[in-house]
Amino acid sequence: MMNSAKFDYSGANVLVTGGSNGIGYAIATAFRDAGAHVTITGTRADGVYDSDFTGLSYRQLDIRDAAAIEATAAALPKLDVLVNCAGQAKFNEYEPEAFADTIAVNLTGSFRMANAVLAQLKASRGSVINIASMTSYYGMAMIPGYGASKAGVLQMTKTLAEAWASDGVRVNAIAPGWVETNMTAPAQGNPDFDAQIVARTPMKRWAKPAEMAGTVLFLCSDAAAFITGVTVPVDGGFSAVM
Ligand SMILES: NC(=O)c1ccc[n+]([C@@H]2O[C@H](COP(=O)([O-])OP(=O)(O)OC[C@H]3O[C@@H](n4cnc5c(N)ncnc54)[C@H](OP(=O)(O)O)[C@@H]3O)[C@@H](O)[C@H]2O)c1
Repeated sequence: MMNSAKFDYSGANVLVTGGSNGIGYAIATAFRDAGAHVTITGTRADGVYDSDFTGLSYRQLDIRDAAAIEATAAALPKLDVLVNCAGQAKFNEYEPEAFADTIAVNLTGSFRMANAVLAQLKASRGSVINIASMTSYYGMAMIPGYGASKAGVLQMTKTLAEAWASDGVRVNAIAPGWVETNMTAPAQGNPDFDAQIVARTPMKRWAKPAEMAGTVLFLCSDAAAFITGVTVPVDGGFSAVM
């Protein structure tokens, strides 16, 4: 296979919420390696993680905290790309408080963050990327709040795309299949579950976080200048089959 997809983000300013880990970290480092100035957020006050943050600017952000979102937006007077990657799934989402908490992080947090940086994105004619999921399309009994939030992310992507198109701001999403991250560590560690995922995925494997990044860089680039409101599955064929 040829390695032919290269994007140049020299001078671009990018914010990746949830960039401290997993898919967000992989997207952040891909933008950095393409020349962008990248700010990442995580939940830790000290910003100390196992990953190498060289060339990335770290900020603490709890995406449930509206004032903290405003402060993050205010600290970034120029912005070309927002990637809403902060997310959670909880095992107790049949408790209404836990259900609401996951909606607050995955859906309301993404909405607030996008609104908070809208002025900057209008100025740059920039892009928002949201992170949907296979649970945007399919039920998963274990995590009702997560599924509701990710279905909402898909719909919100369409709505904001329409609302902001006249301002030159594009809004798209990716829907990852099963990706090896901290969030899915319990599933990876369960041999029966792992076997079900591999069997259900036509490419017969999990994805690496880095495999999510190329589609994001494409969607934010001039190569995708007429694409808005879409959610692109990056799923090894998972959503193509019954
Ligand atoms: N892994 C998959 O198979 C998969 C599939 C579809 C969609 N997704 C989505 O991809 C995104 C990234 O998930 P991941 O798999 O990479 O998981 P991850 O490694 O656990 O990363 C989650 C990120 O979100 C941050 N975060 C969690 N709660 C937060 C909060 N309340 N406020 C702000 N940030 C918060 C985490 O910060 P800390 O590092 O400080 O904890 C971390 O940076 C999520 O939206 C997830 O739903 C994942």
